[in-house]
Amino acid sequence: MKYKTIMQGAIVLGGLALGGAALAAGPSASMLANTCAGCHGTDGSSNGPATPSIAGIKGEYFIETMQEYKSGKRPSTIMDRIAKGYSDDEIKLMAGFFAEQKFVRIEQNADKKLASAGKRLHDRYCEKCHEEGGRMADDGGILAGQMMPYLRYSFDDFTNGSRSMPKKMKSKVDEMLKKEKKGSDSIEQLVHYYGSQK
Ligand code: HEC
Ligand code: HEC
Repeated sequence: MKYKTIMQGAIVLGGLALGGAALAAGPSASMLANTCAGCHGTDGSSNGPATPSIAGIKGEYFIETMQEYKSGKRPSTIMDRIAKGYSDDEIKLMAGFFAEQKFVRIEQNADKKLASAGKRLHDRYCEKCHEEGGRMADDGGILAGQMMPYLRYSFDDFTNGSRSMPKKMKSKVDEMLKKEKKGSDSIEQLVHYYGSQK
């Protein structure tokens, strides 16, 4: 906790020097967020396969997600341990920071044919909630340009039941897997569609 005491001291001094509580909040949010950069990339835009980009995600979704990692409600390989290290106030501060960052997309190895099949599926089953081809972050994360391996294992978590899907999403996903003959392929097509977006 030595680190924290030093940080808090720095923030108090910074606040005095800048002469305002509002200004003092800024540095602490970005300092906290810096500890995430090693995995989530600079300012939350990932370049590592299994780590999602978190730039531009809605504050509410961010907070809910971190709380679910903390409580173990949402499955994870590492985030449960990381989330436990932050207080509710620190999570709120980081939520504000990441919501303001621009999501920078990187070139991924997406197959054109699979991607165009995925677009059709997306428009039919997903666009209602994941608007603008998954670029909008309403209640969920950003899908367009999201890391493909991360998308794959998120789907696995959803379809094997270890992560709970919102009820209405589940009914769309179930409908898709039933109607679209090659059930397992539809998910791969969607992954290529999201991964193909620049
Ligand atoms: C050691 C690597 C690592 C570090 C450090 C890390 N993360 Fe993560 N993060 C992951 C991985 C991997 C996932 C996917 C879930 C899992 O398997 O744990 C993830 C998932 C997330 C998600 C879910 C995104 C979505 O689209 O639903 C959020 C939010 C998040 N991390 C926030 C943070 C924050 C905030 C920090 C810094 C305080 C942080 N992470 C630090 C590796 C990391
Ligand atoms: C009724 C609205 C709705 C529909 C329809 C819907 N989703 Fe979702 N989706 C959500 C919400 C809300 C979340 C956030 C879930 C959570 O809290 O973890 C989500 C989360 C996700 C995630 C996880 C994102 C992340 O960052 O971890 C993926 C992937 C996803 N949806 C894909 C799809 C696909 C593909 C379809 C179409 C087959 C679809 N969704 C249809 C509402 C919807």
